[in-house]
Amino acid sequence: MTMARQVRMTVNGAACEGLAEPRTTLADFLRGELELTGTHVGCEHGVCGVCTVLLDGRAIRSCLMLAVQADGADVTTVEGLAEPDGKLHPIQEAFVEEHGLQCGYCTPGFLMAICELLESNPSPSDEEIKDVLGGQICRCTGYQSILRSVHSAAAKLGGGRSATGA
Ligand code: FES
Ligand code: FES
Repeated sequence: MTMARQVRMTVNGAACEGLAEPRTTLADFLRGELELTGTHVGCEHGVCGVCTVLLDGRAIRSCLMLAVQADGADVTTVEGLAEPDGKLHPIQEAFVEEHGLQCGYCTPGFLMAICELLESNPSPSDEEIKDVLGGQICRCTGYQSILRSVHSAAAKLGGGRSATGA
């Protein structure tokens, strides 16, 4: 017998609903029920950060939250960053220009975590950026290019400071 129940949330500005079992994670709901597969899944226990989305403006691990817990929430996934016409978000542009990705598997999680950072702190220092990047695992880039990407994104968004923090 299925225990699935209807879950409703706003995702990337649109009202969405779907069925979720009590054990279904928000990550699996987004990917499987809403077909928003830009949110990736890796460790599935809160370590790697690839499943990061914004929930009511805060970056959260969607593998650690149940879909039923997010009922009624406002969720932003990586699909919500670019404009409807395909124009990339400034953070995405910065990642492309500064080579902030290689295989790209980790990238949706980094983008969403950096969204939250730059929203609350438009001109972060190296240390403040590293504090956020430390919660996201990338096995390809070595992080320096991601650090440059964040500084570039901050400048594009009207904030920012040099990589030395000046
Ligand atoms: S899949 Fe969620 S933190 Fe790794
Ligand atoms: S770009 Fe490959 S894991 Fe980060």
